Amino acid sequence: MHASGDITPILPADPKAQYLAHKTAIDDAISRMLSHGHYILGDEVSAFEREFAQYLGMSQAIGVGSGTDALQLALRSLGIGPGHSVITVAHTAVATIAAIEMAGATPVLVDIDPISYTMSPTALAHAIAHHQGAPLKAVIPVHLYGHPADMSALLAIAKQHSLAIIEDCAQAHGAAIGDRLVGTFGDCAAFSFYPTKNLGALGDAGALVCHNEELATRARQLRQYGWKERYISEYAGINTRLDEIQAAILRVKLPHLNDDNQRRRLIASQYNQGLADTGLTLPTVPHNYTHAYHQYTILCQDRDALASHLKSKGITPALLYPAAIHQQPAYQARRFKDQQDLSVSERICSTLLCLPIHSQLTDDQVQCIIDVVRQYARVLTDRLI
Ligand SMILES: Cc1ncc(COP(=O)(O)O)c(C=O)c1O
Repeated sequence: MHASGDITPILPADPKAQYLAHKTAIDDAISRMLSHGHYILGDEVSAFEREFAQYLGMSQAIGVGSGTDALQLALRSLGIGPGHSVITVAHTAVATIAAIEMAGATPVLVDIDPISYTMSPTALAHAIAHHQGAPLKAVIPVHLYGHPADMSALLAIAKQHSLAIIEDCAQAHGAAIGDRLVGTFGDCAAFSFYPTKNLGALGDAGALVCHNEELATRARQLRQYGWKERYISEYAGINTRLDEIQAAILRVKLPHLNDDNQRRRLIASQYNQGLADTGLTLPTVPHNYTHAYHQYTILCQDRDALASHLKSKGITPALLYPAAIHQQPAYQARRFKDQQDLSVSERICSTLLCLPIHSQLTDDQVQCIIDVVRQYARVLTDRLI
Protein backbone atom coordinates (compact mmCIF):
# COMPACT_ATOMS: atom_id res chain seq x y z
CA MET A 1 0.00 0.00 0.00
CA HIS A 2 1.11 3.57 -0.59
CA ALA A 3 1.51 4.45 3.07
CA SER A 4 4.31 1.86 3.37
CA GLY A 5 6.44 4.31 1.39
CA ASP A 6 7.34 1.98 -1.51
CA ILE A 7 5.14 3.67 -4.14
CA THR A 8 5.21 7.15 -5.73
CA PRO A 9 4.97 9.98 -3.19
CA ILE A 10 1.68 11.89 -3.03
CA LEU A 11 2.20 15.57 -3.83
CA PRO A 12 0.03 18.47 -2.62
CA ALA A 13 -0.56 19.49 -6.25
CA ASP A 14 0.64 17.87 -9.45
CA PRO A 15 0.82 20.11 -12.55
CA LYS A 16 2.89 17.49 -14.39
CA ALA A 17 0.16 14.86 -13.95
CA GLN A 18 -2.33 17.37 -15.33
CA TYR A 19 -0.07 18.10 -18.31
CA LEU A 20 0.20 14.36 -18.99
CA ALA A 21 -3.59 14.00 -18.81
CA HIS A 22 -3.92 16.53 -21.67
CA LYS A 23 -0.53 15.98 -23.30
CA THR A 24 -1.63 15.54 -26.90
CA ALA A 25 -3.94 18.56 -26.89
CA ILE A 26 -1.36 20.74 -25.14
CA ASP A 27 1.49 19.67 -27.43
CA ASP A 28 -0.75 20.35 -30.46
CA ALA A 29 -1.71 23.78 -29.11
CA ILE A 30 1.94 24.67 -28.58
CA SER A 31 2.91 23.65 -32.12
CA ARG A 32 -0.07 25.57 -33.51
CA MET A 33 1.10 28.62 -31.59
CA LEU A 34 4.71 28.16 -32.74
CA SER A 35 3.66 28.00 -36.37
CA HIS A 36 1.65 31.25 -36.08
CA GLY A 37 4.92 33.12 -35.89
CA HIS A 38 3.27 35.80 -33.74
CA TYR A 39 4.59 35.33 -30.24
CA ILE A 40 3.46 38.37 -28.27
CA LEU A 41 -0.21 39.42 -27.82
CA GLY A 42 -1.38 37.40 -30.81
CA ASP A 43 -4.42 35.24 -31.60
CA GLU A 44 -4.00 32.84 -28.66
CA VAL A 45 -4.10 35.62 -26.06
CA SER A 46 -7.12 37.30 -27.72
CA ALA A 47 -8.96 33.99 -27.97
CA PHE A 48 -8.18 33.03 -24.37
CA GLU A 49 -9.30 36.46 -23.14
CA ARG A 50 -12.62 36.01 -24.97
CA GLU A 51 -13.11 32.45 -23.71
CA PHE A 52 -12.19 33.23 -20.10
CA ALA A 53 -14.46 36.31 -20.02
CA GLN A 54 -17.26 34.17 -21.44
CA TYR A 55 -16.66 31.43 -18.85
CA LEU A 56 -17.11 33.98 -16.07
CA GLY A 57 -19.89 35.94 -17.75
CA MET A 58 -17.75 39.09 -17.80
CA SER A 59 -17.35 41.40 -20.75
CA GLN A 60 -13.59 41.99 -20.41
CA ALA A 61 -10.57 39.84 -19.62
CA ILE A 62 -7.01 41.13 -19.91
CA GLY A 63 -4.24 38.54 -19.93
CA VAL A 64 -1.15 39.51 -17.94
CA GLY A 65 2.08 37.96 -16.71
CA SER A 66 0.92 36.82 -13.24
CA GLY A 67 -1.80 37.08 -10.62
CA THR A 68 0.31 39.60 -8.72
CA ASP A 69 0.46 41.82 -11.81
CA ALA A 70 -3.29 41.41 -12.35
CA LEU A 71 -3.87 42.82 -8.84
CA GLN A 72 -1.35 45.58 -9.39
CA LEU A 73 -2.93 46.60 -12.71
CA ALA A 74 -6.42 46.42 -11.18
CA LEU A 75 -5.36 49.01 -8.60
CA ARG A 76 -3.51 51.20 -11.07
CA SER A 77 -6.35 51.05 -13.60
CA LEU A 78 -8.71 52.26 -10.89
CA GLY A 79 -6.37 55.19 -10.27
CA ILE A 80 -5.19 53.83 -6.91
CA GLY A 81 -1.55 54.35 -5.96
CA PRO A 82 0.71 56.59 -3.89
CA GLY A 83 -1.18 58.48 -1.19
CA HIS A 84 -3.92 55.84 -0.94
CA SER A 85 -4.63 52.95 1.42
CA VAL A 86 -6.05 49.57 0.46
CA ILE A 87 -7.58 47.08 2.88
CA THR A 88 -6.94 43.36 2.61
CA VAL A 89 -6.57 40.38 4.93
CA ALA A 90 -3.64 39.36 7.14
CA HIS A 91 -4.09 35.74 6.07
CA THR A 92 -3.31 35.51 2.36
CA ALA A 93 -0.42 34.93 -0.04
CA VAL A 94 2.16 37.72 0.32
CA ALA A 95 1.42 38.42 -3.36
CA THR A 96 -1.74 40.31 -2.37
CA ILE A 97 0.28 42.73 -0.25
CA ALA A 98 3.15 42.88 -2.75
CA ALA A 99 0.69 44.00 -5.45
CA ILE A 100 -0.68 46.82 -3.28
CA GLU A 101 2.85 48.03 -2.60
CA MET A 102 3.87 47.65 -6.27
CA ALA A 103 1.01 50.01 -7.12
CA GLY A 104 2.48 52.47 -4.59
CA ALA A 105 -0.45 52.24 -2.14
CA THR A 106 -0.33 51.36 1.57
CA PRO A 107 -1.80 48.04 2.71
CA VAL A 108 -4.07 47.95 5.76
CA LEU A 109 -4.61 44.46 7.18
CA VAL A 110 -7.83 43.17 8.71
CA ASP A 111 -8.62 39.85 10.33
CA ILE A 112 -10.39 36.86 8.83
CA ASP A 113 -13.56 35.07 9.82
CA PRO A 114 -12.66 31.98 11.93
CA ILE A 115 -14.92 29.66 9.90
CA SER A 116 -14.42 30.70 6.26
CA TYR A 117 -10.81 31.99 6.64
CA THR A 118 -11.81 34.93 4.42
CA MET A 119 -12.24 38.64 5.22
CA SER A 120 -14.39 39.27 8.27
CA PRO A 121 -17.07 41.90 7.44
CA THR A 122 -17.01 42.98 11.11
CA ALA A 123 -13.24 43.50 10.97
CA LEU A 124 -13.63 45.45 7.72
CA ALA A 125 -16.24 47.78 9.20
CA HIS A 126 -14.08 48.28 12.29
CA ALA A 127 -10.98 49.05 10.21
CA ILE A 128 -12.84 51.62 8.14
CA ALA A 129 -14.30 53.28 11.24
CA HIS A 130 -10.88 53.56 12.92
CA HIS A 131 -8.73 54.26 9.88
CA GLN A 132 -6.08 56.96 10.10
CA GLY A 133 -3.48 57.78 7.48
CA ALA A 134 -3.66 57.82 3.69
CA PRO A 135 -7.28 57.79 2.49
CA LEU A 136 -8.87 54.40 1.91
CA LYS A 137 -9.71 53.66 -1.71
CA ALA A 138 -10.28 49.94 -2.13
CA VAL A 139 -10.86 46.59 -0.46
CA ILE A 140 -9.32 43.33 -1.71
CA PRO A 141 -11.19 40.30 -0.36
CA VAL A 142 -9.36 37.03 -1.04
CA HIS A 143 -11.39 33.90 -1.84
CA LEU A 144 -8.73 31.91 -0.02
CA TYR A 145 -8.36 28.16 -0.58
CA GLY A 146 -11.31 28.37 -3.02
CA HIS A 147 -13.84 29.39 -0.36
CA PRO A 148 -15.83 32.46 -1.50
CA ALA A 149 -15.62 35.47 0.81
CA ASP A 150 -18.92 36.87 2.13
CA MET A 151 -19.40 39.16 -0.85
CA SER A 152 -22.85 40.52 -0.03
CA ALA A 153 -21.72 41.81 3.39
CA LEU A 154 -18.38 43.11 2.08
CA LEU A 155 -19.96 44.84 -0.92
CA ALA A 156 -22.55 46.55 1.29
CA ILE A 157 -19.81 47.96 3.55
CA ALA A 158 -17.60 49.03 0.63
CA LYS A 159 -20.52 50.73 -1.09
CA GLN A 160 -21.44 52.63 2.04
CA HIS A 161 -17.92 54.10 2.11
CA SER A 162 -17.45 54.48 -1.67
CA LEU A 163 -14.60 51.97 -1.75
CA ALA A 164 -13.78 49.91 -4.82
CA ILE A 165 -13.75 46.13 -4.49
CA ILE A 166 -11.08 44.07 -6.25
CA GLU A 167 -11.59 40.33 -5.79
CA ASP A 168 -8.46 38.24 -5.40
CA CYS A 169 -9.56 35.06 -7.20
CA ALA A 170 -6.09 33.50 -7.50
CA GLN A 171 -7.29 30.40 -5.63
CA ALA A 172 -10.94 30.36 -6.66
CA HIS A 173 -11.50 29.69 -10.37
CA GLY A 174 -15.03 28.32 -10.59
CA ALA A 175 -16.05 29.07 -6.98
CA ALA A 176 -19.50 30.65 -6.71
CA ILE A 177 -22.13 32.15 -4.47
CA GLY A 178 -25.55 31.10 -5.67
CA ASP A 179 -25.28 31.05 -9.45
CA ARG A 180 -22.64 33.81 -9.61
CA LEU A 181 -19.00 32.90 -10.02
CA VAL A 182 -16.49 34.74 -7.86
CA GLY A 183 -14.77 37.45 -9.84
CA THR A 184 -18.11 38.88 -10.96
CA PHE A 185 -19.06 40.71 -7.75
CA GLY A 186 -16.57 43.56 -7.44
CA ASP A 187 -15.37 46.39 -9.68
CA CYS A 188 -12.83 43.97 -11.08
CA ALA A 189 -11.06 40.74 -10.19
CA ALA A 190 -7.60 39.24 -10.47
CA PHE A 191 -6.82 35.61 -11.35
CA SER A 192 -3.53 33.73 -11.21
CA PHE A 193 -2.80 30.83 -13.55
CA TYR A 194 0.32 29.70 -11.67
CA PRO A 195 0.74 25.98 -12.57
CA THR A 196 -0.75 24.61 -9.33
CA LYS A 197 -3.94 26.72 -9.49
CA ASN A 198 -7.32 25.17 -10.38
CA LEU A 199 -6.75 26.61 -13.86
CA GLY A 200 -2.99 26.53 -14.28
CA ALA A 201 -0.64 27.44 -17.12
CA LEU A 202 2.80 25.83 -17.46
CA GLY A 203 4.59 28.95 -16.29
CA ASP A 204 3.52 32.30 -14.84
CA ALA A 205 0.28 33.84 -16.09
CA GLY A 206 -2.68 35.85 -14.83
CA ALA A 207 -5.72 37.85 -15.88
CA LEU A 208 -7.72 40.85 -14.81
CA VAL A 209 -11.47 40.78 -15.48
CA CYS A 210 -14.10 43.52 -15.35
CA HIS A 211 -17.21 44.85 -17.04
CA ASN A 212 -16.02 48.42 -17.40
CA GLU A 213 -14.61 49.09 -20.85
CA GLU A 214 -12.67 52.17 -19.80
CA LEU A 215 -11.00 50.24 -16.99
CA ALA A 216 -10.16 47.40 -19.40
CA THR A 217 -8.64 49.80 -21.91
CA ARG A 218 -6.48 51.35 -19.20
CA ALA A 219 -5.34 47.90 -18.02
CA ARG A 220 -4.51 46.85 -21.61
CA GLN A 221 -2.40 49.97 -21.97
CA LEU A 222 -0.70 49.59 -18.58
CA ARG A 223 0.32 45.98 -19.30
CA GLN A 224 2.38 47.26 -22.23
CA TYR A 225 4.29 50.41 -21.22
CA GLY A 226 1.08 52.48 -21.12
CA TRP A 227 1.05 52.48 -24.93
CA LYS A 228 -1.96 54.14 -26.51
CA GLU A 229 -0.48 53.13 -29.83
CA ARG A 230 2.86 51.53 -30.56
CA TYR A 231 5.70 53.54 -28.95
CA ILE A 232 3.37 56.25 -27.62
CA SER A 233 2.96 55.92 -23.85
CA GLU A 234 -0.08 57.67 -22.48
CA TYR A 235 0.55 56.29 -18.98
CA ALA A 236 3.68 55.14 -17.19
CA GLY A 237 3.00 51.42 -17.61
CA ILE A 238 4.95 48.20 -17.20
CA ASN A 239 5.55 45.05 -19.21
CA THR A 240 3.27 42.27 -18.05
CA ARG A 241 1.82 40.56 -21.09
CA LEU A 242 0.30 37.08 -21.04
CA ASP A 243 2.52 34.86 -23.21
CA GLU A 244 1.04 33.34 -26.36
CA ILE A 245 2.32 29.92 -25.32
CA GLN A 246 0.61 30.11 -21.91
CA ALA A 247 -2.63 31.36 -23.51
CA ALA A 248 -2.56 28.37 -25.91
CA ILE A 249 -2.14 25.99 -22.94
CA LEU A 250 -4.87 27.71 -20.91
CA ARG A 251 -7.27 27.37 -23.87
CA VAL A 252 -6.80 23.59 -23.71
CA LYS A 253 -7.37 23.48 -19.96
CA LEU A 254 -10.26 25.92 -19.55
CA PRO A 255 -12.92 23.56 -20.98
CA HIS A 256 -11.91 21.00 -18.29
CA LEU A 257 -12.07 23.42 -15.35
CA ASN A 258 -15.61 22.55 -14.24
CA ASP A 259 -14.96 18.80 -14.37
CA ASP A 260 -11.65 19.24 -12.54
CA ASN A 261 -13.41 21.27 -9.83
CA GLN A 262 -16.10 18.60 -9.60
CA ARG A 263 -13.38 16.02 -8.99
CA ARG A 264 -11.90 18.27 -6.27
CA ARG A 265 -15.34 18.50 -4.62
CA LEU A 266 -15.71 14.73 -4.71
CA ILE A 267 -12.32 14.32 -3.05
CA ALA A 268 -13.33 16.92 -0.44
CA SER A 269 -16.50 14.97 0.34
CA GLN A 270 -14.42 11.78 0.73
CA TYR A 271 -12.17 13.63 3.20
CA ASN A 272 -15.24 15.05 4.99
CA GLN A 273 -16.66 11.56 5.47
CA GLY A 274 -13.42 9.80 6.24
CA LEU A 275 -12.21 12.35 8.80
CA ALA A 276 -15.54 13.34 10.37
CA ASP A 277 -14.86 11.67 13.74
CA THR A 278 -11.17 12.55 14.11
CA GLY A 279 -11.61 15.76 16.13
CA LEU A 280 -9.84 17.75 13.39
CA THR A 281 -11.61 20.90 12.18
CA LEU A 282 -12.72 20.32 8.59
CA PRO A 283 -13.87 22.97 6.09
CA THR A 284 -17.48 24.16 6.29
CA VAL A 285 -19.32 25.63 3.33
CA PRO A 286 -22.56 27.66 3.55
CA HIS A 287 -25.37 25.96 1.62
CA ASN A 288 -25.49 28.36 -1.37
CA TYR A 289 -21.68 28.57 -1.73
CA THR A 290 -19.68 26.52 -4.21
CA HIS A 291 -16.18 25.87 -2.88
CA ALA A 292 -13.49 25.40 -5.55
CA TYR A 293 -11.28 23.40 -3.12
CA HIS A 294 -8.03 24.85 -4.34
CA GLN A 295 -6.94 23.50 -0.97
CA TYR A 296 -8.58 21.11 1.48
CA THR A 297 -7.88 22.67 4.87
CA ILE A 298 -7.82 21.07 8.28
CA LEU A 299 -7.06 22.64 11.65
CA CYS A 300 -4.94 20.60 14.00
CA GLN A 301 -3.45 21.76 17.32
CA ASP A 302 -0.21 19.92 16.62
CA ARG A 303 -0.11 20.69 12.93
CA ASP A 304 3.66 20.21 12.59
CA ALA A 305 3.53 16.72 14.11
CA LEU A 306 0.72 15.72 11.75
CA ALA A 307 2.70 17.14 8.80
CA SER A 308 5.76 15.07 9.83
CA HIS A 309 3.62 11.95 10.22
CA LEU A 310 2.18 12.42 6.71
CA LYS A 311 5.63 13.04 5.23
CA SER A 312 6.99 9.89 6.89
CA LYS A 313 4.35 7.97 4.91
CA GLY A 314 5.23 9.61 1.57
CA ILE A 315 2.40 12.19 1.64
CA THR A 316 3.34 15.87 1.32
CA PRO A 317 0.79 18.25 2.81
CA ALA A 318 0.90 21.99 1.99
CA LEU A 319 1.58 24.47 4.75
CA LEU A 320 -0.30 27.57 3.57
CA TYR A 321 0.60 29.81 5.22
CA PRO A 322 3.02 29.25 8.10
CA ALA A 323 2.81 32.93 9.11
CA ALA A 324 0.32 35.75 8.66
CA ILE A 325 1.50 38.74 6.63
CA HIS A 326 2.44 40.90 9.63
CA GLN A 327 4.46 37.97 11.05
CA GLN A 328 6.53 37.52 7.86
CA PRO A 329 10.16 38.71 8.19
CA ALA A 330 9.76 41.22 5.35
CA TYR A 331 6.70 42.87 6.88
CA GLN A 332 7.37 42.73 10.61
CA ALA A 333 8.65 46.30 10.70
CA ARG A 334 5.35 47.67 9.35
CA ARG A 335 2.84 48.90 11.92
CA PHE A 336 0.07 46.52 10.77
CA LYS A 337 -0.39 45.04 14.21
CA ASP A 338 -0.98 48.48 15.77
CA GLN A 339 -3.94 49.00 13.47
CA GLN A 340 -6.08 45.92 14.06
CA ASP A 341 -6.60 42.77 16.08
CA LEU A 342 -5.26 40.04 13.77
CA SER A 343 -5.47 37.18 16.25
CA VAL A 344 -7.69 34.87 14.17
CA SER A 345 -5.20 35.06 11.28
CA GLU A 346 -2.37 34.25 13.69
CA ARG A 347 -4.19 31.29 15.22
CA ILE A 348 -5.19 29.85 11.84
CA CYS A 349 -1.66 30.20 10.48
CA SER A 350 -0.30 28.18 13.40
CA THR A 351 -2.80 25.32 13.15
CA LEU A 352 -3.82 24.97 9.50
CA LEU A 353 -2.62 22.24 7.16
CA CYS A 354 -3.74 21.45 3.61
CA LEU A 355 -4.21 17.84 2.53
CA PRO A 356 -3.33 16.98 -1.08
CA ILE A 357 -6.16 17.77 -3.49
CA HIS A 358 -6.06 17.95 -7.28
CA SER A 359 -7.99 16.46 -10.14
CA GLN A 360 -5.49 13.68 -10.90
CA LEU A 361 -5.48 12.32 -7.33
CA THR A 362 -6.94 8.78 -7.38
CA ASP A 363 -9.54 7.34 -4.99
CA ASP A 364 -6.89 4.95 -3.64
CA GLN A 365 -4.56 7.84 -2.88
CA VAL A 366 -7.37 9.74 -1.13
CA GLN A 367 -8.19 6.65 0.96
CA CYS A 368 -4.51 6.26 1.81
CA ILE A 369 -4.32 9.88 3.02
CA ILE A 370 -7.48 9.39 5.11
CA ASP A 371 -6.01 6.23 6.68
CA VAL A 372 -2.74 7.97 7.55
CA VAL A 373 -4.50 10.98 9.09
CA ARG A 374 -6.79 8.64 11.06
CA GLN A 375 -3.76 6.71 12.29
CA TYR A 376 -2.33 9.97 13.65
CA ALA A 377 -5.65 11.01 15.24
CA ARG A 378 -5.90 7.59 16.95
CA VAL A 379 -2.42 7.93 18.45
CA LEU A 380 -3.42 11.33 19.84
CA THR A 381 -6.65 9.97 21.33
CA ASP A 382 -4.78 7.02 22.89
CA ARG A 383 -2.33 9.48 24.45
CA LEU A 384 -5.25 11.33 26.07
CA ILE A 385 -6.85 8.21 27.56
C1 LIG B 1 -4.28 34.56 -2.89
C2 LIG B 1 -3.27 34.83 -3.95
N1 LIG B 1 -3.20 36.07 -4.48
C3 LIG B 1 -2.33 36.37 -5.45
C4 LIG B 1 -1.46 35.42 -5.96
C5 LIG B 1 -0.45 35.82 -6.99
O1 LIG B 1 -0.46 35.06 -8.13
P1 LIG B 1 0.89 34.83 -8.98
O2 LIG B 1 1.70 33.82 -8.27
O3 LIG B 1 0.38 34.35 -10.30
O4 LIG B 1 1.56 36.15 -9.09
C6 LIG B 1 -1.50 34.12 -5.45
C7 LIG B 1 -0.61 33.07 -5.98
O5 LIG B 1 0.11 32.41 -5.32
C8 LIG B 1 -2.43 33.82 -4.43
O6 LIG B 1 -2.51 32.58 -3.90
